[in-house]
Amino acid sequence: MPEAAHSNQFTSPSTTSPSTTGVSGNAAAGDNAPAGPGATTAPDATAGAASAEQPAPYGGPVSAPAAPPRRIRTLDLIKAKAEGRRWAMLTSYDQYTAALFEQAGVEALLIGDSAANNVYGHATTLPVTVDELIPLARAVASATSRALIVADLPFGSYEISDEQAVATAVRFMKEAGVHAVKLEGGARIASRIKAITTAGIPVMAHIGFTPQAEHNLGGYKVQGRGDAGSALLDDARAVAEAGAFSVVMEMVPSGLAGQVTSELTIPTVGIGAGADCDAQVLVWQDMAGLRTGKAPRFVKRYADLHSVLTEAVGTYVDEVKSGVFPEPERSFD
Ligand code: KIV
Repeated sequence: MPEAAHSNQFTSPSTTSPSTTGVSGNAAAGDNAPAGPGATTAPDATAGAASAEQPAPYGGPVSAPAAPPRRIRTLDLIKAKAEGRRWAMLTSYDQYTAALFEQAGVEALLIGDSAANNVYGHATTLPVTVDELIPLARAVASATSRALIVADLPFGSYEISDEQAVATAVRFMKEAGVHAVKLEGGARIASRIKAITTAGIPVMAHIGFTPQAEHNLGGYKVQGRGDAGSALLDDARAVAEAGAFSVVMEMVPSGLAGQVTSELTIPTVGIGAGADCDAQVLVWQDMAGLRTGKAPRFVKRYADLHSVLTEAVGTYVDEVKSGVFPEPERSFD
């Protein structure tokens, strides 16, 4: 049993007892869906013994089989908004963080195109490709059984036409096993959102500061201030109208983000958009303090992983050099 298993608000941790596992009160039992492509069933440690020993011959206590963990669905997130419950989203690009974040109660995981910076070491999100993101998305989807998994459509993979956007979204659904895609832009990409959702794929929109357009926006700047506020409201309305199930708002003044949140029935996900959004998202390396240096104002560091890892690796190097590691108990006769 992993330590510190936190329930998210929609499903219980898969490690809880059968009586508390599975569909929560806010979802119909009939909505139970098989876990995603990579959902693992724990190997049955008693399998060998079971083949030798038969079940009790005269019956026994009636016990309901454990319900499989249920994936959070877009409808759960929309319902949460209607009921005033907030939810949390983090980026993830690999199996260990995906499983850990889900265990800690994060409801939605994003394979962001920020993998360009945080995995591949680029200065912007622009260079990362679909072929580079799909393996990361597959790892995240495979390592989880409850969180909703959303993949970013990278720059260049949906701008040309609605057909291109649908084809890229289909690749993420089929090849990575994600449950939704995210794309940047407001009214200007409304037809893409409509085309993708018409194909049966849920879309998370992303308005305000959109990093893929940073050169067009003139750098990392708060969007929607002053007169630009009405254009941002129009973007929010356009993506909701086009069928998005939620919308990320990045670097938007809190008051405006609150206005959008109260007007839309789909959840708003803030990143630098204040406390009135229905959900929040952060890049995990930022919130866990793995990234060093000046972070954007909206980042809160909840840990100092950079120091923790630097110290651990420094000790390892010292012990290798001094011959302390490996100790006799870590060696074979
Ligand atoms: O790519 C990304 O990480 C994002 C953010 C909203 C966190 O789009």
